[in-house]
Amino acid sequence: MSLSCTAALTTCLLLLLQVCVAQDVIGASHYRGAPPIQYSTLSGPSFVNSSSSSEVRVVAGATAILTCAIRNIHNQTVSWLRGRDIRLLTIGSATYTTDKRFVSSNPQQGHEWILKIHYVRMSDGGKYLCQVSTTPPKTLYVDLKVHEAVATVSPGNEVHVQTGSLLELVCRVEGCPTPAMLSWSRDARQMQDTVPNAYEIDTGKGPRPVAELTMKKSPATGQDSGIYTCTSTCTPPINVTVHVLRGEELAAMQHHNRGSSSTRERGTMAMVFLGTTVLQLLMSLWWHWLPWADDTDGSA
Ligand SMILES: *[C@@H]1O[C@H](CO)[C@@H](O)[C@H](O)[C@H]1NC(C)=O
Ligand SMILES: *[C@@H]1O[C@H](CO)[C@@H](O)[C@H](O)[C@H]1NC(C)=O
Ligand SMILES: *[C@@H]1O[C@H](CO)[C@@H](O)[C@H](O)[C@H]1NC(C)=O
Repeated sequence: MSLSCTAALTTCLLLLLQVCVAQDVIGASHYRGAPPIQYSTLSGPSFVNSSSSSEVRVVAGATAILTCAIRNIHNQTVSWLRGRDIRLLTIGSATYTTDKRFVSSNPQQGHEWILKIHYVRMSDGGKYLCQVSTTPPKTLYVDLKVHEAVATVSPGNEVHVQTGSLLELVCRVEGCPTPAMLSWSRDARQMQDTVPNAYEIDTGKGPRPVAELTMKKSPATGQDSGIYTCTSTCTPPINVTVHVLRGEELAAMQHHNRGSSSTRERGTMAMVFLGTTVLQLLMSLWWHWLPWADDTDGSA
């Protein structure tokens, strides 16, 4: 009885093995030559854009919008996953992660499935997967590139101007999504005499928005000395210390600056001077020890 049981089991195993081998052959034939015809794509879901990946660029702090366009969705569901850890973020329009910054939607029940990431962080950058619940699932990869906006002030963080001349401060923010809101303030009071300016620069990787705000005061007086702050919607505030000085004060300060900038030069000069002095001392000693030096001294 046990023998017949073993025989039956062996037969079973052999059958299973044969099925497996057969499936392997079928599977292998798929990868040989031309790609297999997927009949399901004719009627089943497919991504609208034939390319299976796309790139989204966003500035840190803004809302990232990842789009997945699918046609013939029928009754299938769409999920968004994070590629880094294959973490399930959303299914349909429900968020499945504790991080509530991730929100998905299907506007007007159209063919677009959108994942929004609010207050996007640098660490959110990377691949995201838009997956349709077919068997096997169909996947679209979206590469999220997060970059930081950069704010700069000119002429610098420390500004010296002469009384009566033009005080001009420019705050420039690059990479902030339009519209970037900029403001100049002094002692927490917003300044009115400012000129906004917005344009785009081509960085080679596509246009990058630039916003500029110029604060002008002419003629500058001693009262204009103080700390000015440039604030923008997507960068930390920058302080600028302004010193409005009378002509002679400015000249003295510039002289002082020039002096301090050549400290090394002066050091070298001191070394040369010291060396010359030592040499002179040695030479006078040498003269002193020479016999004729004594003679001349005596004769004199
Ligand atoms: C398809 O891709 C093109 C460019 O790659 C893009 O302009 C267009 O918006 C995309 N369409 C959809 C529906 O995503
Ligand atoms: C989708 O609909 C088809 C019939 O059109 C049905 O066979 C299938 O089970 C449905 N799938 C799901 C996930 O509801
Ligand atoms: C900028 O200046 C303000 C005062 O106007 C001060 O409170 C703040 O701490 C300064 N910020 C920095 C980063 O120095």
